[in-house]
Amino acid sequence: MHTSSRPAKGILLAGGKGSRLAPMTRFVSKQLLPVYDKPMIYYPLATLMQAEVREILLISTPAHLPVYQQLLGNGKQWGIQLHYAEQESAGGLPQAFTIGADFIDDTSVMLLLGDNVFFGGTITEHLVRAAQASRGATLFATRHSQPHAYGVVEFGPGQKILSLEEKPQQPKSNNVITGAYVFDPQVVEFAHALQPSDRGETEMIDLLGCYQAQGDLRMEFLGAETRWFDTGTPQTLLDASLAIANAQRAQGPIGCPLQTAQANRWI
Ligand code: TTP
Repeated sequence: MHTSSRPAKGILLAGGKGSRLAPMTRFVSKQLLPVYDKPMIYYPLATLMQAEVREILLISTPAHLPVYQQLLGNGKQWGIQLHYAEQESAGGLPQAFTIGADFIDDTSVMLLLGDNVFFGGTITEHLVRAAQASRGATLFATRHSQPHAYGVVEFGPGQKILSLEEKPQQPKSNNVITGAYVFDPQVVEFAHALQPSDRGETEMIDLLGCYQAQGDLRMEFLGAETRWFDTGTPQTLLDASLAIANAQRAQGPIGCPLQTAQANRWI
Protein backbone atom coordinates (compact mmCIF):
# COMPACT_ATOMS: atom_id res chain seq x y z
CA MET A 1 0.00 0.00 0.00
CA HIS A 2 1.50 3.32 -1.04
CA THR A 3 0.16 6.14 1.01
CA SER A 4 1.76 9.24 2.41
CA SER A 5 0.52 11.89 4.77
CA ARG A 6 3.62 14.05 4.43
CA PRO A 7 3.52 17.24 2.33
CA ALA A 8 4.15 16.61 -1.34
CA LYS A 9 7.60 17.33 -2.69
CA GLY A 10 8.16 18.95 -6.09
CA ILE A 11 10.24 18.20 -9.16
CA LEU A 12 11.04 20.74 -11.88
CA LEU A 13 12.20 19.16 -15.11
CA ALA A 14 14.51 21.62 -16.86
CA GLY A 15 16.58 19.49 -19.21
CA GLY A 16 15.61 18.31 -22.68
CA LYS A 17 16.97 19.27 -26.08
CA GLY A 18 14.95 22.40 -26.78
CA SER A 19 15.38 21.69 -30.48
CA ARG A 20 12.27 23.62 -31.51
CA LEU A 21 13.78 26.76 -30.00
CA ALA A 22 17.16 26.42 -31.72
CA PRO A 23 19.37 28.38 -32.18
CA MET A 24 18.31 30.17 -28.96
CA THR A 25 18.83 26.91 -27.08
CA ARG A 26 22.14 26.03 -28.68
CA PHE A 27 24.07 27.28 -25.63
CA VAL A 28 21.35 28.55 -23.31
CA SER A 29 19.02 26.18 -21.45
CA LYS A 30 15.45 26.59 -22.71
CA GLN A 31 14.04 27.13 -19.23
CA LEU A 32 16.37 30.09 -18.66
CA LEU A 33 15.04 31.99 -21.69
CA PRO A 34 12.92 35.00 -20.74
CA VAL A 35 9.16 34.82 -20.58
CA TYR A 36 8.51 38.57 -20.65
CA ASP A 37 10.54 39.78 -17.66
CA LYS A 38 11.75 36.63 -15.89
CA PRO A 39 13.55 33.38 -16.65
CA MET A 40 11.01 30.76 -17.72
CA ILE A 41 11.80 28.50 -14.75
CA TYR A 42 10.52 31.15 -12.28
CA TYR A 43 6.94 30.48 -13.38
CA PRO A 44 6.66 26.75 -12.61
CA LEU A 45 8.79 27.29 -9.50
CA ALA A 46 6.36 29.91 -8.22
CA THR A 47 3.44 27.62 -9.14
CA LEU A 48 4.88 24.84 -6.97
CA MET A 49 5.37 27.32 -4.12
CA GLN A 50 1.79 28.57 -4.45
CA ALA A 51 0.71 24.93 -4.03
CA GLU A 52 2.69 24.95 -0.76
CA VAL A 53 5.49 22.71 -1.99
CA ARG A 54 8.65 23.63 -0.09
CA GLU A 55 11.10 20.89 -1.00
CA ILE A 56 11.96 20.85 -4.69
CA LEU A 57 14.36 18.91 -6.90
CA LEU A 58 15.45 20.63 -10.12
CA ILE A 59 16.73 18.31 -12.84
CA SER A 60 18.70 19.57 -15.83
CA THR A 61 21.52 18.60 -18.16
CA PRO A 62 25.09 18.28 -16.83
CA ALA A 63 26.02 21.38 -18.89
CA HIS A 64 23.21 23.59 -17.56
CA LEU A 65 22.68 22.43 -13.98
CA PRO A 66 25.43 24.72 -12.57
CA VAL A 67 23.68 27.76 -14.05
CA TYR A 68 20.44 26.89 -12.24
CA GLN A 69 22.39 26.45 -9.01
CA GLN A 70 23.86 29.93 -9.46
CA LEU A 71 20.50 31.46 -10.30
CA LEU A 72 18.36 29.82 -7.61
CA GLY A 73 20.80 28.72 -4.89
CA ASN A 74 19.61 26.52 -2.06
CA GLY A 75 16.22 28.23 -1.88
CA LYS A 76 16.74 29.67 1.60
CA GLN A 77 16.10 33.20 0.31
CA TRP A 78 12.51 32.09 -0.44
CA GLY A 79 12.02 29.79 2.56
CA ILE A 80 12.27 26.61 0.47
CA GLN A 81 14.80 23.82 -0.01
CA LEU A 82 16.15 23.38 -3.52
CA HIS A 83 18.05 20.25 -4.54
CA TYR A 84 19.67 19.53 -7.89
CA ALA A 85 20.27 16.45 -10.03
CA GLU A 86 21.63 15.76 -13.50
CA GLN A 87 19.88 13.98 -16.34
CA GLU A 88 22.66 12.62 -18.54
CA SER A 89 20.62 12.82 -21.74
CA ALA A 90 17.01 13.49 -22.67
CA GLY A 91 15.68 10.00 -22.01
CA GLY A 92 12.09 11.03 -21.33
CA LEU A 93 9.95 12.73 -18.71
CA PRO A 94 9.50 9.61 -16.50
CA GLN A 95 13.25 9.68 -15.80
CA ALA A 96 12.40 12.46 -13.34
CA PHE A 97 11.27 9.69 -11.01
CA THR A 98 14.21 7.33 -11.45
CA ILE A 99 16.68 10.21 -11.02
CA GLY A 100 14.58 11.54 -8.14
CA ALA A 101 13.90 8.18 -6.44
CA ASP A 102 15.84 8.94 -3.24
CA PHE A 103 14.46 12.46 -3.09
CA ILE A 104 10.87 11.22 -3.39
CA ASP A 105 11.34 8.49 -0.78
CA ASP A 106 7.80 7.80 0.49
CA THR A 107 6.09 11.11 -0.26
CA SER A 108 3.78 12.19 -3.05
CA VAL A 109 5.41 14.27 -5.75
CA MET A 110 4.24 17.13 -7.93
CA LEU A 111 6.06 17.32 -11.28
CA LEU A 112 6.05 20.54 -13.26
CA LEU A 113 7.72 20.77 -16.64
CA GLY A 114 10.13 23.67 -16.63
CA ASP A 115 8.73 25.16 -19.83
CA ASN A 116 5.09 25.21 -18.69
CA VAL A 117 3.55 28.48 -17.51
CA PHE A 118 0.29 28.44 -15.55
CA PHE A 119 -1.43 31.45 -14.09
CA GLY A 120 -4.78 32.76 -12.99
CA GLY A 121 -7.98 30.92 -12.26
CA THR A 122 -7.85 27.99 -9.91
CA ILE A 123 -4.57 26.26 -10.77
CA THR A 124 -3.38 26.44 -7.15
CA GLU A 125 -6.58 24.89 -5.79
CA HIS A 126 -6.38 22.07 -8.34
CA LEU A 127 -2.77 21.27 -7.42
CA VAL A 128 -3.40 21.42 -3.68
CA ARG A 129 -6.42 19.14 -3.98
CA ALA A 130 -4.45 16.60 -6.01
CA ALA A 131 -1.55 16.69 -3.54
CA GLN A 132 -3.94 15.92 -0.68
CA ALA A 133 -4.95 12.61 -2.26
CA SER A 134 -2.73 10.03 -0.64
CA ARG A 135 -2.91 7.49 -3.46
CA GLY A 136 -2.85 7.40 -7.25
CA ALA A 137 -1.91 9.92 -9.90
CA THR A 138 -3.55 13.11 -11.15
CA LEU A 139 -3.17 14.78 -14.53
CA PHE A 140 -4.30 18.33 -15.28
CA ALA A 141 -6.16 18.83 -18.54
CA THR A 142 -7.42 21.86 -20.42
CA ARG A 143 -9.15 22.62 -23.71
CA HIS A 144 -6.82 23.49 -26.57
CA SER A 145 -7.33 24.35 -30.23
CA GLN A 146 -4.32 22.24 -31.35
CA PRO A 147 -4.77 18.93 -29.52
CA HIS A 148 -2.73 16.93 -32.04
CA ALA A 149 0.44 18.64 -30.72
CA TYR A 150 -0.07 17.31 -27.18
CA GLY A 151 -1.14 14.32 -25.12
CA VAL A 152 -4.91 14.04 -25.51
CA VAL A 153 -7.30 12.77 -22.85
CA GLU A 154 -10.80 11.54 -23.59
CA PHE A 155 -13.17 11.42 -20.66
CA GLY A 156 -16.75 10.54 -19.91
CA PRO A 157 -19.30 11.37 -17.19
CA GLY A 158 -17.80 12.08 -13.78
CA GLN A 159 -14.51 12.93 -15.52
CA LYS A 160 -13.80 9.22 -15.87
CA ILE A 161 -10.76 8.88 -18.11
CA LEU A 162 -11.52 6.72 -21.17
CA SER A 163 -8.34 7.03 -23.22
CA LEU A 164 -4.94 8.72 -23.38
CA GLU A 165 -3.10 9.30 -26.65
CA GLU A 166 0.21 11.02 -27.39
CA LYS A 167 0.07 13.53 -30.27
CA PRO A 168 -2.72 11.72 -32.14
CA GLN A 169 -3.35 12.55 -35.80
CA GLN A 170 -7.10 12.21 -35.20
CA PRO A 171 -7.63 13.53 -31.65
CA LYS A 172 -10.67 12.09 -29.87
CA SER A 173 -11.17 15.36 -28.00
CA ASN A 174 -9.85 18.90 -27.61
CA ASN A 175 -8.70 18.17 -24.08
CA VAL A 176 -4.94 18.10 -23.69
CA ILE A 177 -2.67 17.01 -20.87
CA THR A 178 -0.66 19.91 -19.45
CA GLY A 179 2.81 19.70 -17.93
CA ALA A 180 1.71 19.29 -14.32
CA TYR A 181 1.26 15.94 -12.58
CA VAL A 182 0.89 14.61 -9.04
CA PHE A 183 1.96 11.04 -8.27
CA ASP A 184 2.05 8.82 -5.22
CA PRO A 185 5.43 7.23 -4.36
CA GLN A 186 4.63 4.13 -6.43
CA VAL A 187 5.68 6.25 -9.42
CA VAL A 188 9.31 5.30 -8.81
CA GLU A 189 8.62 1.58 -9.36
CA PHE A 190 6.49 2.27 -12.42
CA ALA A 191 9.11 4.60 -13.93
CA HIS A 192 11.87 2.02 -13.44
CA ALA A 193 9.81 -0.60 -15.29
CA LEU A 194 8.99 1.51 -18.38
CA GLN A 195 10.50 0.59 -21.74
CA PRO A 196 11.57 3.30 -24.21
CA SER A 197 9.19 4.01 -27.10
CA ASP A 198 10.12 4.01 -30.79
CA ARG A 199 11.64 7.48 -30.38
CA GLY A 200 14.04 6.09 -27.77
CA GLU A 201 12.51 7.83 -24.72
CA THR A 202 10.27 6.61 -21.94
CA GLU A 203 6.88 8.27 -22.28
CA MET A 204 4.73 10.09 -19.75
CA ILE A 205 1.61 8.67 -21.36
CA ASP A 206 2.86 5.13 -20.57
CA LEU A 207 3.52 6.11 -16.95
CA LEU A 208 0.00 7.53 -16.66
CA GLY A 209 -1.22 4.30 -18.28
CA CYS A 210 0.23 2.29 -15.37
CA TYR A 211 -2.06 4.17 -12.98
CA GLN A 212 -4.98 4.02 -15.40
CA ALA A 213 -4.62 0.21 -15.56
CA GLN A 214 -5.11 -0.08 -11.80
CA GLY A 215 -7.97 2.46 -11.70
CA ASP A 216 -5.84 5.03 -9.89
CA LEU A 217 -5.62 7.85 -12.45
CA ARG A 218 -7.62 11.02 -11.85
CA MET A 219 -8.02 14.25 -13.76
CA GLU A 220 -8.39 17.86 -12.69
CA PHE A 221 -9.87 19.95 -15.48
CA LEU A 222 -8.60 23.51 -15.72
CA GLY A 223 -11.27 26.00 -16.74
CA ALA A 224 -10.73 28.74 -19.31
CA GLU A 225 -9.84 31.29 -16.62
CA THR A 226 -6.68 29.30 -15.83
CA ARG A 227 -4.13 30.21 -18.48
CA TRP A 228 -1.66 27.59 -19.63
CA PHE A 229 1.27 27.90 -22.03
CA ASP A 230 3.73 25.27 -23.15
CA THR A 231 6.49 27.66 -24.21
CA GLY A 232 8.43 25.17 -26.32
CA THR A 233 8.13 26.89 -29.72
CA PRO A 234 9.02 30.46 -30.81
CA GLN A 235 5.33 31.28 -31.26
CA THR A 236 4.15 29.88 -27.90
CA LEU A 237 7.09 31.56 -26.15
CA LEU A 238 5.99 34.87 -27.63
CA ASP A 239 2.33 34.18 -26.80
CA ALA A 240 3.25 33.47 -23.17
CA SER A 241 5.37 36.63 -22.92
CA LEU A 242 2.55 38.79 -24.28
CA ALA A 243 -0.03 37.18 -21.99
CA ILE A 244 2.19 37.69 -18.94
CA ALA A 245 2.89 41.32 -19.90
CA ASN A 246 -0.84 42.00 -20.24
CA ALA A 247 -1.89 40.16 -17.12
CA GLN A 248 0.81 41.78 -15.00
CA ARG A 249 -0.42 45.23 -16.04
CA ALA A 250 -3.80 44.33 -14.61
CA GLN A 251 -2.95 42.22 -11.59
CA GLY A 252 0.71 42.67 -10.61
CA PRO A 253 3.62 40.19 -10.67
CA ILE A 254 3.16 36.63 -11.91
CA GLY A 255 5.79 33.91 -11.55
CA CYS A 256 7.56 35.68 -8.73
CA PRO A 257 9.04 33.29 -6.10
CA LEU A 258 9.87 36.16 -3.73
CA GLN A 259 6.30 37.41 -3.72
CA THR A 260 4.91 33.89 -3.19
CA ALA A 261 7.35 33.28 -0.33
CA GLN A 262 6.15 36.49 1.32
CA ALA A 263 2.47 35.69 0.73
CA ASN A 264 3.01 32.23 2.28
CA ARG A 265 4.86 33.83 5.22
CA TRP A 266 7.84 31.62 4.55
CA ILE A 267 10.22 34.56 4.87
P1 TTP B 1 9.79 18.76 -24.56
O1 TTP B 1 9.37 20.15 -24.88
O2 TTP B 1 8.90 17.66 -24.95
O3 TTP B 1 11.22 18.48 -25.18
P2 TTP B 1 12.45 19.44 -25.34
O4 TTP B 1 12.52 20.44 -24.21
O5 TTP B 1 13.65 18.58 -25.50
O6 TTP B 1 12.16 20.30 -26.64
P3 TTP B 1 12.14 19.93 -28.20
O7 TTP B 1 11.00 18.97 -28.38
O8 TTP B 1 11.89 21.24 -28.86
O9 TTP B 1 13.48 19.34 -28.55
O10 TTP B 1 10.08 18.65 -23.00
C1 TTP B 1 9.14 19.10 -22.07
C2 TTP B 1 9.86 19.58 -20.83
O11 TTP B 1 10.53 18.50 -20.18
C3 TTP B 1 10.92 20.62 -21.06
O12 TTP B 1 10.90 21.52 -19.95
C4 TTP B 1 12.20 19.84 -21.09
C5 TTP B 1 11.93 18.72 -20.14
N1 TTP B 1 12.58 17.45 -20.47
C6 TTP B 1 13.61 17.00 -19.66
O13 TTP B 1 14.03 17.69 -18.71
N2 TTP B 1 14.15 15.78 -19.93
C7 TTP B 1 13.73 14.98 -20.95
O14 TTP B 1 14.25 13.88 -21.12
C8 TTP B 1 12.67 15.49 -21.79
C9 TTP B 1 12.17 14.66 -22.93
C10 TTP B 1 12.13 16.71 -21.50
